Amino acid sequence: MQSTDGYRVAVVGATGQVGSVMLDLLETTSLPIRELVPFASARSAGRELRGMTIQPLTDETIRGFDLAIFSAGGSTSGEWAPRFRDAGAVVVDNSSKWRMHDDVPLVVSEVNPEALDGHRGIIANPNCSTMQMVVALKPLQDVAGIERLVVSTYQAVSGTGKKGVDELLAQARALALGEEPPPPTIYAHQVAFNALPHAGTFAPGDDHTDEERKLINETRKILSDPSIRVSATCVRVPVVTGHSEAVNVETREPLSPQEARELLAAAPGLTVVDDPGAARYPLALEAAGQDGVYVGRIRRDPGNERALDLWVVADNLRKGAATNAVQLLELLHERGLVGARV
Ligand SMILES: NC(=O)c1ccc[n+]([C@@H]2O[C@H](COP(=O)([O-])OP(=O)(O)OC[C@H]3O[C@@H](n4cnc5c(N)ncnc54)[C@H](OP(=O)(O)O)[C@@H]3O)[C@@H](O)[C@H]2O)c1
Repeated sequence: MQSTDGYRVAVVGATGQVGSVMLDLLETTSLPIRELVPFASARSAGRELRGMTIQPLTDETIRGFDLAIFSAGGSTSGEWAPRFRDAGAVVVDNSSKWRMHDDVPLVVSEVNPEALDGHRGIIANPNCSTMQMVVALKPLQDVAGIERLVVSTYQAVSGTGKKGVDELLAQARALALGEEPPPPTIYAHQVAFNALPHAGTFAPGDDHTDEERKLINETRKILSDPSIRVSATCVRVPVVTGHSEAVNVETREPLSPQEARELLAAAPGLTVVDDPGAARYPLALEAAGQDGVYVGRIRRDPGNERALDLWVVADNLRKGAATNAVQLLELLHERGLVGARV
C-alpha cells in the first residue's frame, strides 16, 4: 500500500558516516515521512541521536516500516535486509551484499531509474567509485556506445568508514609534529603522505581487489552492457572525503571532446568544470559536501582517436552513497513503488 499520511522510515547504520548524511538529507527531502527511526549496533542501542532513540535490530523493532535504508556493512545487510523486506518494507541497501544478485536492481537515479520497476523489495545502491563514474558515462554511452574503459581511482579514506579517517588523521598529526606515526591497523601501509595501490581487499588467488571487481561488474550491470571491457586500478590516497577518477573512455562511434563536453554539461546530476588553462578542474576538496558529480579535463586520448580522457570527482559519502540512496527513496515514491512487489 502506498502510504498517504507519510512513510515510516528505518535508517540502519544511522550513527555511521553515511548514515549521518542520510539523516541530514531525510530532514530536507520532499519524501513524505511520518516517522524516522534510527538503528545501529547493540553498542549504540538506547542512546539518543538527534532527539531520537537508537534502536537495536530485533524481530520486534523492525516491524511496521514502509521503507528501510541500510548503511551498516554487508553482513548486517545480508541478515537484516530480507527480514525488513519480509516485514513489509522496501529496502535500499548501501552495502555490496546484494548488488550483483539477478533479482536485485542496482540503480543510479540519473542513469537507470527504470530498473526500479518490478523490484522485489531489495534495491542496491552501487559502490561509490562506480556511482560517480556511470553518471559521467551514461550521456556518452547513449550517443556513442562504450567499447572499453581504463580507470584509475584516487579514493578518500572516508570510503573505508570512520576508522579510515581516524587512521589518516592520527598519522598526519604525528608526522606534522615530527613524531613516529601510529602503525597502520586499517590499511596495509601508512596512508598519510602515501598512495596505496590497494583500495579494498585481495581475495585469495585474485590479482584484483574487491573494489576493482565491483567497478568492473557493477558498471556493466548499471549500463546494461556486459560486453563493455573495463580495466581498473583502485588507489587509496590521503584525502578525507571525495573520490577522484581518471577515466579513459573508448567509444563505439566517434565523439569529439567538444561534443562530449556539451553532452555532459546538459546531463542531470553533472557539472562540467573544464578550464585547465585557468587551473579550473574538479577537485575533491571542492566536491566534498556537494551532492553532484563533477567532470573536467575532457580531452582526446592522443593514442586513440576513438577515446577520450576525463577526470571525475564526487563526494563518496553523498552521491557515492547517501544522496543516491535518498534519491532512490524519492523515485520509489514518485513511481508508486513503495509497497509494490512483483
Ligand atoms: N564510506 C563510503 O564512502 C561508502 C560509500 C558507499 C557505500 N558505503 C557502505 O555504507 C556502509 C557504511 O559505511 P560508513 O562509511 O558509514 O561506515 P561507518 O562510519 O563505520 O558506520 C557503520 C555503521 O554501521 C553500524 N553497524 C555496525 N555493525 C552493526 C551491526 N551488527 N548491526 C547494526 N548496525 C551496525 C554502526 O553502528 P555503531 O555506531 O553502533 O557501531 C554504524 O552506524 C558500508 O556498507 C559501506 O560499504 C560506504
